[in-house]
Amino acid sequence: MYSRAGIEAAFQNYRRAFASVPHAICYAVKANSNLSVLRVLARLGSHFDIVSGGELFRLSQAGVPGDRMVFSGVGKSREEIRDALQAGILLFNVESEEELALLAEEASRLRRPAPAALRINPDVRIESHPHIATGAHRHKFGVDWEEARRLYHAYRNHPAVRWRGISSHIGSQVLRVEPFRLAVRRMARFVRELQWEGIEFSYFDCGGGLGVRYISEQPPSLRSYARALARAVKPTGCQLLLEPGRSIVGPAGILLTRVLYTKTTRGKRFIIVDAGMNDFIRPALYGARHPITLEKDARAGQGTIRADIVGPVCESGDSFLHDWRMPAVNPGDLLVLWGAGAYGFVQASNYNSRPRPPEVLVEGSRFRVIRNREAREDLIRGE
Ligand code: LLP
Repeated sequence: MYSRAGIEAAFQNYRRAFASVPHAICYAVKANSNLSVLRVLARLGSHFDIVSGGELFRLSQAGVPGDRMVFSGVGKSREEIRDALQAGILLFNVESEEELALLAEEASRLRRPAPAALRINPDVRIESHPHIATGAHRHKFGVDWEEARRLYHAYRNHPAVRWRGISSHIGSQVLRVEPFRLAVRRMARFVRELQWEGIEFSYFDCGGGLGVRYISEQPPSLRSYARALARAVKPTGCQLLLEPGRSIVGPAGILLTRVLYTKTTRGKRFIIVDAGMNDFIRPALYGARHPITLEKDARAGQGTIRADIVGPVCESGDSFLHDWRMPAVNPGDLLVLWGAGAYGFVQASNYNSRPRPPEVLVEGSRFRVIRNREAREDLIRGE
């Protein structure tokens, strides 16, 4: 369940924080790609960061034109590149020489030069879960500085490629400004060198990744983050692009789940709920901790218990919180899992043949089902 006001406020906060520099906020569609969510952001004037032909399709369904999209991703297929060219995409963030060659080939075929940037792997380390750090040399993303310099020059006069910028994305759920500052400073120095050598740049894409508070995390202020990026980007004269996902939609969403059973085995207490790792996989996949509270706080103050809150899926990893303190609950009680707006539904699956839950958008005092609860029949469609 998502709050429209929450999503809009997060987007406007970015706007305000970056007001001092020409910029475009390219919401990272992967975080939450529901059509209604995309429309909310499109109406505010958001640009979008996509990583697949499927996300391009969703955006076109939402009425977003190609020149409001940047295309990232380490493994774009020929078909995806072709579709994106046809859509008139604003910027391809290219991640390898072979991808660049393929992009040039497709652009020549369509007689439409491809607007391109190289994604730099700036080799900065961040403290985040290893699955979501991307900016160090051992990761698969981007190209290194030397390779980038070679490619910018090799393609400077290519008829089918127009260099428009540079990009990087160092990782997700980053809770300090410093790694961003390091990455963009190095990039800015590099851009100025290449500008001196005659390569033109219009866009400086700083990626996404600013972390959010789930339980006790202390993300830096948007202002300090914006100041660090703007200071590096301004002297290059480029428009600053950002690709935030989690920080736009994460805190604006909750997962509602009902208590099925409670039990105590050998002194250990379990609360078994009707949502599982198939619905929300972040705890199982990244060890993420999202607070869970009782929907009605009527029983607060009547003493608390400590329990593991677990789902019905047949794996021990299907556990949301370990040894969590909360009021005593009964079967049928409704619980709220917080911070589920990003990387929630988009990573849900039908594992254990469980239909996926509905998605709901709260707008003021009203709500709207923006994706139906899946039916049994949906489970076997196409089989
Ligand atoms: N741009 C690029 C190129 C990305 O790869 C990502 C996220 C973003 C922007 C948006 O980053 P954000 O602002 O949301 O941190 N499923 C994981 C997170 C995966 C992030 C992948 N890339 C999770 O639930 O923590």
